[in-house]
Amino acid sequence: MTQGGNKGQEWERWRTEFPILEESVYLINNSLGAMPRQTPDALREYTRMWEELGVRAWEESWWNLPRVIGDLIASIIGAWPGTVSIQPNVTTSQWIALSCLAGQERKKIVYSELNFPSVRYFYQAQPDLQVEVVPCPDGMTVPVERMLDAIDENTLAVPISHVIFKSSFIQDVRAVVEKAHRVGAYVILDTYHSAGIVPFSLQELEVDFAVGGVLKWLCGGPGVAFLYVRPDLADRIAPQLTGWLAHERPFDFSPRLELSDGAYRFMSGTPNIPGLFAARRGLEIIQEVGVARIRERSSMLTEFLIAAADAASIPVRTPRNPRERGGHVTLSPERAESVSRHLLSHGFVIDYRPGAGIRVAPHFFNTRDELEHLVAEIGNFLERE
Ligand SMILES: Cc1ncc(COP(=O)(O)O)c(C=O)c1O
Repeated sequence: MTQGGNKGQEWERWRTEFPILEESVYLINNSLGAMPRQTPDALREYTRMWEELGVRAWEESWWNLPRVIGDLIASIIGAWPGTVSIQPNVTTSQWIALSCLAGQERKKIVYSELNFPSVRYFYQAQPDLQVEVVPCPDGMTVPVERMLDAIDENTLAVPISHVIFKSSFIQDVRAVVEKAHRVGAYVILDTYHSAGIVPFSLQELEVDFAVGGVLKWLCGGPGVAFLYVRPDLADRIAPQLTGWLAHERPFDFSPRLELSDGAYRFMSGTPNIPGLFAARRGLEIIQEVGVARIRERSSMLTEFLIAAADAASIPVRTPRNPRERGGHVTLSPERAESVSRHLLSHGFVIDYRPGAGIRVAPHFFNTRDELEHLVAEIGNFLERE
């Protein structure tokens, strides 16, 4: 099957940038995005600097690296330069965002049942907060009216996932922001499953905070997450979870914290420098290809996969409306866990999530042929067993 003219050649060319595609049918880019060919060179450059420059590497490049990578991320998620700080992981990013809201009368947190567990665990563990979890009866979509009804004058914050990790459902962020702001609550948007695959602009969405990481669709590997704070809010709030990197002049080592403005205001301690080196190439590729074009190709691939699954009578646990669907498709064949083990042992890299099924996450460099083979392999397995 061809992918159509020059565009097809361009996508073919991008495939050579991701070595794992030569070894396997890599369809799990919503979990760990494929590593770019040049990432090992970037890590070698990191070790070269450490070896040859030692502590001078900080001044030469490392100290400024969170700013450089933060701005690269900002350009992909529709944020102004200087609004995205680098963080160790998404859970900590939530913690820092919440720490900016400490001391308020309001104690209610609203989120949906389909939020990622780590985020739930964090909010549930806060002794002073009352969490209201909005049920999602179909296990796939978030009923927006129920979310809006739950958000009221007692609500402090609404931490929501942009794209639901199990089903790929895209939440109606605008509606949530509109209601939250009307009653004086803050929205913390988790973009882990949307950044790099679904185009959006944080400025336009007007969320107060956004969190995410680079290891999924941004192909940046583990170890680098980020926190965006709305610029007109940022200098009015102060994180309680803070540290010396947030100081206007960290090398004064003064006893009193004078918070800087810009992204470093929300950083705390020493950043993960090798992680930042590893992250760069993936971000550059996503920026170069462009999220709008990635989305176009991704929608074509997920549409194709759903049609192939329908033809093979494999149930789909992902919205069929392309506007409500992120980058992955969850297939729910009989004995899905055994099917997933079979696929993994036959070179198809996917994953299985209990209560959902097999998540298949093609990126812009995957092909319809790969998806066709995957569906055929599921069919073969189910016929044989
Ligand atoms: C939507 C979402 N939020 C948060 C997390 C957890 O992030 P972290 O491990 O960086 O804290 C994940 C992990 O996959 C996720 O999918």
